[in-house]
Amino acid sequence: WDPSVSLSKNFPPLKNDLILRAARGEETERAPVWVMRQAGRYLPEFRAVRAEHEFFEVCRTPSLACEVTLQPIRRYSGLLDASIIFSDILVVPQAMGMEVLMNPAPSFPAPLDTPADIARLREHVDVHKELGYVFAAITRTRHGLAGEVPLIGFCGAPWTLFSYMVEGGGSKTLQKAKTWLFKHPQESKKLLARIADICVDFLVGQVDAGAQLLQVFDSWAGELSQDDFAEFALPPLRHIAGSVRARLAEHNLPVVPLILFAKGANAPASLAAAAAAGYDVLSLDWCVAPADLRAVAPHKALQGNLDPSLLYGGREAIERGVRRMCAAFRKGGGPPKGWIANLGHGITPGVDPEDLKWFLECLHKYSAREVVP
Ligand code: CP3
Repeated sequence: WDPSVSLSKNFPPLKNDLILRAARGEETERAPVWVMRQAGRYLPEFRAVRAEHEFFEVCRTPSLACEVTLQPIRRYSGLLDASIIFSDILVVPQAMGMEVLMNPAPSFPAPLDTPADIARLREHVDVHKELGYVFAAITRTRHGLAGEVPLIGFCGAPWTLFSYMVEGGGSKTLQKAKTWLFKHPQESKKLLARIADICVDFLVGQVDAGAQLLQVFDSWAGELSQDDFAEFALPPLRHIAGSVRARLAEHNLPVVPLILFAKGANAPASLAAAAAAGYDVLSLDWCVAPADLRAVAPHKALQGNLDPSLLYGGREAIERGVRRMCAAFRKGGGPPKGWIANLGHGITPGVDPEDLKWFLECLHKYSAREVVP
């Protein structure tokens, strides 16, 4: 870090706006591409940083968060069209007063067992006080990127965060979280709304700090029935999109594109509802085809959706998967339009970084307007 670089918000001009154009639904010369979890354990340079520093220490130290965010941008120079700030969705439960450990999966020593435990949460959360380190990391990273690619800010969706806060970690059945929903629906909705309000403050703060797009991760959306997705997960998602837009406009901040990743919410009714929730882009997992989404929301910009496990299949399988994906998103071999290429979920730790490079190269080749995939 060069201390002479000012931490002001006088950011260097953006040289690659491909993802911003695709997010607005425009035709592009090729599909922009980034990868969920692109900074992570599959990269030896990330593991080297983690060998010296705790996970949340990296999140809380702007110079480290910036360094780790830039690692994939440097390694895949010219191949990635966006960066995503290094952090975690669980910083929001921490801001609400919960303790979260990462060893190596997330665990909460004192989860919310019953609605009475809500009293343990911080009454009023000042995101600048609790999460100012994320804002500082974003501002610093915008300078570090030197306008190479846009920077994405993010948060977890209320339903996914609620699940972690109640379960105390990951869970196969979400038995405790669902017990809350079905036994205490009113208290559950109140807590979901409270989380949503903090997400709004947090996302607006990230744009103020320099984030150029925002993504909301609802990683557990697919665990809910269509009715329960509509009843519990969707209202806070809608509230976030509407309030973030209104607050950005009110504060004369750029009204940046919003991306929703509601993983597994793939029933036609859920896709239609998610597409109407107020986000510019819908991020798809690999179990849903772009045509399924187009059937219910023809003009929605889309992100996705290669099965992350294809990156274990070797070069031929990766190339075939990319060609298929390009054919599916580019209706009838037309130019890419309103499509941000990505995996259908995060990249996993065992992937060979050279195989990810091959994925990116194939994507550049087969998504190009003049190439038939
Ligand atoms: O995408 C990026 O490169 C930005 C950073 C980022 C991380 N987590 C870093 C991380 C983002 C966007 C996330 C989001 C996140 N975190 C989600 C939503 C997306 C998804 O994958 O569903 C969720 C559910 C979490 C919670 C979480 N954090 C889990 C379940 C785990 C452990 C298992 C795993 O997938 O690694 C984490 C840890 C975590 N978050 C790591 C990284 C790089 C690995 C931890 C380590 O460094 O030891």
